[in-house]
Amino acid sequence: MKILAIETSCDETAAAVVEDGVKILSNVVASSAAMHEKYGGIVPEVAAREQLKCIIPTINEALSGSGLKDLQGLTPFIDAIAVTVGPGLIGSLLVGVETAKTIAFAFKKPIIPVNHVIAHMYANFIQSGSALKVPQGLTLSFPAISLVVSGGHTELYLMESIKKLKWLGGTLDDAAGECFDKTARLLGFGSRGGPAIAAAATKSANLQITLPRPMIRDETLNFSFSGLKTAILREVNKLKAQNQFNNVTIQQLAFEVQEAITDVLVEKTVRAARKHRARSILLSGGVAANKRLREKLPDAIVPSPNLCTDNAVYIASYAFFRGTPTAWHNITAIPDLSVEK
Ligand code: KG4
Ligand code: ZN
Repeated sequence: MKILAIETSCDETAAAVVEDGVKILSNVVASSAAMHEKYGGIVPEVAAREQLKCIIPTINEALSGSGLKDLQGLTPFIDAIAVTVGPGLIGSLLVGVETAKTIAFAFKKPIIPVNHVIAHMYANFIQSGSALKVPQGLTLSFPAISLVVSGGHTELYLMESIKKLKWLGGTLDDAAGECFDKTARLLGFGSRGGPAIAAAATKSANLQITLPRPMIRDETLNFSFSGLKTAILREVNKLKAQNQFNNVTIQQLAFEVQEAITDVLVEKTVRAARKHRARSILLSGGVAANKRLREKLPDAIVPSPNLCTDNAVYIASYAFFRGTPTAWHNITAIPDLSVEK
């Protein structure tokens, strides 16, 4: 079964064609990151306008990459359309959702609505040729604990089967990715976020900065990262007042914040795995691309970094394994779609 998937929940415009939930035929991601750098962050209205411009070329490129000429050849090659309906920015979601509905209607194809956050974890099943053999050659066994860490979400799930999920906990305030992004701004890296922090993080022998590990001893499987951001702001202001805010201290702060965030993520994930006697640990979402997090959980199953960050491949995979075809007129964008299933 070949699924054409469309993803526009945040600033990316992505389309992909995936066969049987695991085999990538094409994967196109058009990012407006350079534009957001100019504006110092994502401006929802600007993002949606940009997505309107590139949605059809992106879909055409995904189709031609999978062996078709363009949209005209969709029948009989594609069996279904999958689209992210939420959570996300309303203007951005609408671009993908309305385009997908139009294609489904025009070509008489089933359409499958997808929850972006839950779909992230299906990136773990890609490229193996089999749902239970993951890219690194490991075998994924259930029950599994799945940590989704992105720019907007930090969620822990118990995965009892490829279809059966239980939400265990999540962030009470900022997401882990948001903490990376806000720290990046405080340290002068603009909107380059987590990757900039990861690149700058350097351990130094005379590290003077210690940041808190929020909620690490708390018994629940919830997280909180907003206090960490405040602690960093305090350190930055202190260093500036002492005239010591320089490349060395910036690298140390980057190192320490990465340690603090990853320590908490690892502690809670391992605790959840023990509690539920998990046979596998799965990571996904943009922050799962972080090398240090991957190092600290060496037995975890992780997608390749380009499948951690937003793309349409895992949208197709979710649709194949867990989606329900829905009448196109019943599909709408839901910006605050719940992730607690
Ligand atoms: O999943 P994603 O692409 O988009 C959302 O659904 O939010 O995640 C984006 C987040 C951003 O906060 C970004 O800074 C973070 O993932 N991220 C990283 C790394 N690569 C992306 N954080 C830490 N280290 C990285 N290497
Ligand atoms: Zn995402």
